[in-house]
Amino acid sequence: MKEFRYASDLGNFEEALKEAFEIKKDRFKYQGLGKNKTLLMIFFNNSLRTRLSTQKAAMNLGMNVIVLDINQGAWKLETERGVVMDGDKSEHLLEAIPVMAQYCDLIGVRTFARFESREADYTEEILTQFIKYSGRPVFSMESATVHPLQAFADLITIEQYRKLKRPKVVMTWAPHPKALPQAVPNSFAQWMLAADVDFVVTHPEGYELDPQFVSGAQVEYDQMKALEGADFVYAKNWSCPGVTRPEDYGKVINKDMNWTVDAKHMAVTNNAFFMHCLPVRRNMIVTDDVIEAPTSLVIPEAANREISATVVLKRMLEDL
Ligand code: CP
Repeated sequence: MKEFRYASDLGNFEEALKEAFEIKKDRFKYQGLGKNKTLLMIFFNNSLRTRLSTQKAAMNLGMNVIVLDINQGAWKLETERGVVMDGDKSEHLLEAIPVMAQYCDLIGVRTFARFESREADYTEEILTQFIKYSGRPVFSMESATVHPLQAFADLITIEQYRKLKRPKVVMTWAPHPKALPQAVPNSFAQWMLAADVDFVVTHPEGYELDPQFVSGAQVEYDQMKALEGADFVYAKNWSCPGVTRPEDYGKVINKDMNWTVDAKHMAVTNNAFFMHCLPVRRNMIVTDDVIEAPTSLVIPEAANREISATVVLKRMLEDL
C-alpha cells in the first residue's frame, strides 16, 4: 500500500477485516516488520485518538516514531506556490516536505479543511503535496475531506458487534456550535457503501454530502423515519458541504437541537448501538444517557483505531 485515503485503497474488505481481527488477537505478531523503520506523524491540527493510536500501532510493529506538531516548534509553513514570502511564514511546504521525507520511511498527515475555499479543501491541497513531493508512502490521519483510519475502525467495530448479517446503519447529522469538516461523514459514507450493510443518511436540508462520497446512499430528511429499525446509529456533525449552495460552504446553517440523539430517537431503533468518532460535545450531539448506555460503542470504537492503524502501517511496511 503506497497511499491510504479512500476505501478502495484497502482493497477487499473481507481480507482486511480478517487481518484486523488477527491483529486484535495478537497485536505484536508483526513486531519485526518495522525494525529500523521510522514513521513521521505530522500534525497541522489537534488530535488525541489519532496521535496515540497511530503511535501505538507503529510501536506494535517495532517502528521508530517521530511526531511533529507544525504549529508548535516548527517554522510556519507557506502552502501556496507563487506567494512572495514577506509575511510571517518562514518556510515553504515545497522544501519542507522533501526535507522531512529524508528522516523517515512512512508519513502520516493530519490536516483539517480550512474552509477558505471549497476547491482547495476538496482537492486536498496539503495531503496531495505530501503524496507528490515526499517520495514516501503517505496516509491521511484525517485530512480536509477524508478520515480513513476512523472509517476503518468504524467498520471493524460494526463487524465486531453486528447481530445481523446485513445490519441497518444510520448516519445522522447532529448539532454543534462550531463549523466542523465533512471528513468523517464523507469517509464513513464511502466505507459503508462498500460494506455489507443497509446504509441510510439523515440530515437537515442544505447538509447534502458530496456525491463522490455519498452517491448510492439512501438519504432521508426525516430523522425519526431514518432511525426506525436501525441496528447502528452513527452520529456526527458536519458543516455545510456547499453542494446545493456553494456560498454556504463550511458554514453552520442549522442548530436545531431536535436533532440531538436522545432516548426518544434511540427508542425507534432496533435497540441500536450508538457510535461516534469522538471528541463529542455531550448534550449537543448526544445526550448523557445515550452515550453512557451499555449500547454505546464510543470506547470500543476508539480502541479499534489502534487496530485499523496497525493494519494500514503493516501493509505499507510490507510494500516498502
Ligand atoms: N476521532 C479522532 O480522529 O479523534 P482525534 O481528533 O482526537 O484524533
